[in-house]
Amino acid sequence: MVIARRDFLKGTVTASLASSLLLSPAVGVIARELPLEMDPHDWASIRAQFKLASEVVHLSNFFLASTPLPVREAMARHRQAFDENPYTYLEDHMFGAAQDMLWRKVCVAAADYVNGQAEEIALTTSTTQGLSMIYNGLRLQPHQEILTTTHEWYTHDEAMRLASLKWGASIRRIDLYQHRDEVSAERIVEQVRHAIMPATRVVAMTWVHSGTGVRLPIKDIGTVIIEANRKREQNNQILYVVDGVHGFGCIDQDVSDLGCDFFSSGTHKWILGPHGTGLVWAKEASWAHIIPTIPSIMASEPANAWRQERAPMGATQACWVSPGGFLAFENQWGVIEAFEFIKQIGRKRIADRVAQLNGALKEGLEQMHHVTLHTPLQPELSAGIVCCEVKGMEPRAVVSALKNHSIIASATPYRQSTVRFSAGIVNSTADIEKTLKVMASLA
Ligand SMILES: Cc1ncc(COP(=O)(O)O)c(C=O)c1O
Repeated sequence: MVIARRDFLKGTVTASLASSLLLSPAVGVIARELPLEMDPHDWASIRAQFKLASEVVHLSNFFLASTPLPVREAMARHRQAFDENPYTYLEDHMFGAAQDMLWRKVCVAAADYVNGQAEEIALTTSTTQGLSMIYNGLRLQPHQEILTTTHEWYTHDEAMRLASLKWGASIRRIDLYQHRDEVSAERIVEQVRHAIMPATRVVAMTWVHSGTGVRLPIKDIGTVIIEANRKREQNNQILYVVDGVHGFGCIDQDVSDLGCDFFSSGTHKWILGPHGTGLVWAKEASWAHIIPTIPSIMASEPANAWRQERAPMGATQACWVSPGGFLAFENQWGVIEAFEFIKQIGRKRIADRVAQLNGALKEGLEQMHHVTLHTPLQPELSAGIVCCEVKGMEPRAVVSALKNHSIIASATPYRQSTVRFSAGIVNSTADIEKTLKVMASLA
């Protein structure tokens, strides 16, 4: 990191105590970040691990992670090693002894977080890529359908559409709610139960809708699917796919116990990992349904089969579905430290903090006559996303008014746009109070 002149002038370099100066003859003055002792029970100390601009209230934390210090350091370490000796560093950590393969360590850390097995994890570069691997890899037949909702994010819906073009299968989209007052776990579960038809081969849901902030009862829907499957032949079981990105990292839940067959999420949002990282979790039996789309360099059997001029033997495994070729490995491997960082603070404490801050925001907005809140107040029906509208103002105008006060919100890029906030562990109650004050001034 080169220290900017303005940082010297403002005195922030010494004030932060996060960096030490080193003299490098080649580069001049450079700074190295020293481990900044974090108190995992102190939110201000946790916030100090991030480089987020301090003059801004960051309320779009669902979007793309700012990475904490241990993750930045891991990335910097890998990058330096790659720059110094790319062949050996990759050979030693990608193709060497099993215990030294860093991608496996990412899978181990992820498995610990989802309470599953490392062999159940495929590494991807995003939620979108994981979903595409699933739909593209499932052998759908023309008479079969994917049952989904009208609330999916564009890339999830589009992943289904592109796969349906390939397989000739159809897609049916149901509307689960129009208004937040209609949102209840029982109602949603019954709607899905009634919508399942004999032709339904896949049910595709999203844990937390990024257009409304509504959190679905994913596990209860899973129970409905398990019941429906009891009456079905083995080769016609419903496969349950979940886009879990806005619950993964901000809801205290074992993904392996969600009742779904495939769970796709980026690790570059709520998990606070490097950009361009993600995973799919599925049990061994579910992976067997998938035909890999992109050749993997993390699996030995397909490569051995190629060398021996034969077809790969055995059922598809998670690592066969992790897309190759060479990746931004410094990012993929930095996910280990992201899971460690979250573990240090505690999954439940993070979930409680996210619920508390977004809850305070919702309650404040609910009091304002000029604001229509679209996200349910109940914590079990929401997570870290809060959507609303201001009477007589376009969402973009609201976002721009907030930006004038250094508050970063977003206007949702859905058919029906809303104003969207997302408080994370980097926020304080003061951030919420300031935001509510500015929102009140828009009356
Ligand atoms: C519900 C939902 N799914 C998927 C995505 C895409 O995530 P990724 O960038 O990891 O592909 C988004 C984007 O924020 C989203 O809101």
